[in-house]
Amino acid sequence: EQINKGNYEHYMQKEIHEQPESLTTTMRGRLIRGGTCKAKTVLLGGLKDHLKTIRRSRRIVFIGCGTSYNAALAARPILEELSGIPVTMEIASDLLDRQGPIYREDTAVFVSQSGETADTLHALEYALQNGALCVGITNTVGSVIARKTHCGVHINAGAEIGVASTKAYTSQIVVMAMLALAIGGDAISNQARREAIIDCLFDLPNKVREVLKLDQEMKDLAKLLIAEQSLLMFGRGYNYATALEGSLKVKEVALMHSEGILAGEMKHGPLALVDESLPIVVIATHDACFSKQQSVIQQLHARKGRLIVMCSRGDAAAVSLGGACSRVIEVPQVEDCLQPVVNIVPLQLLAYHLTVLRGYNVDQPRNLAKSVTTE
Ligand code: G6P
Repeated sequence: EQINKGNYEHYMQKEIHEQPESLTTTMRGRLIRGGTCKAKTVLLGGLKDHLKTIRRSRRIVFIGCGTSYNAALAARPILEELSGIPVTMEIASDLLDRQGPIYREDTAVFVSQSGETADTLHALEYALQNGALCVGITNTVGSVIARKTHCGVHINAGAEIGVASTKAYTSQIVVMAMLALAIGGDAISNQARREAIIDCLFDLPNKVREVLKLDQEMKDLAKLLIAEQSLLMFGRGYNYATALEGSLKVKEVALMHSEGILAGEMKHGPLALVDESLPIVVIATHDACFSKQQSVIQQLHARKGRLIVMCSRGDAAAVSLGGACSRVIEVPQVEDCLQPVVNIVPLQLLAYHLTVLRGYNVDQPRNLAKSVTTE
């Protein structure tokens, strides 16, 4: 594998732009289109001997840190929907601080790009002691987390060098969507939904290729935001994770304060921050939460919020309220549960361009490490 920047100036830039390829590699050999008698299905070799146990578990608990946690959060709704099993979320350090309950009947899924993060590893040791079935989702074959878990899936995104995780995030979401399909099994009741997701996965690299064309648009937006102190991002449902991850990118590389906010919590505090100057990204792509997000846009506009709205292609008029938004970012629409994979890309590009324009180190942000191996 070539670990150089190729024609790019930075690893982060290269890794953002190679996502159509990294996603293809992640899915290679794992999606079956189905022959004459077989339905479309997913094959995750590393899990096949454990699927029955996972399906019988009382709870699935996702455990990770940083971007890996956000990827799990993005996948949570589809896993709940297809498996019918309650899914809870744990930031590894917080689980350890609380010594939170983990049971033998739990499946604990450890998500880590490096497979070496100290907190995630310690949480794994804790879950093993408590008798849970432990599944690893990592990008590093032979890593400690890959070795110590009972079973798992490699995301195969290729080496990620930039400290800020980009291509690993999208590959993690895709692996966890495939995990949801595998656990969900072949129930007739959700066959159409499953097949729609599998069709969408096949086409996802193309959609990501399309959304990467927003590069210049995101650079222009970055120029507008270059001197801002802060940037809020509102999301909900499938895209709550997108708001958290988009703001994490801006924070970690562009060194700008940014906060991802659950739009449903807007009235419980964040609304007090809204004025004419604070820029706010609202993620309002088309899904079951769309009308609620339209109402959020109206309410932010009524308080003179400076809005940048991300919407599905063709929805610009429905979200911009006759010029209420200072910017509209239109993205291709995909199956709702995979929309976070598309939606994060413009925000990765925005964070990248903001960083370059502000003159900061893109690949090695101050004070941060690619892999945090101490507590
Ligand atoms: C560090 C990195 C992040 C990463 C997090 C978790 O903070 O800078 O990019 O998301 O660790 O790392 P992991 O390797 O466990 O995914």
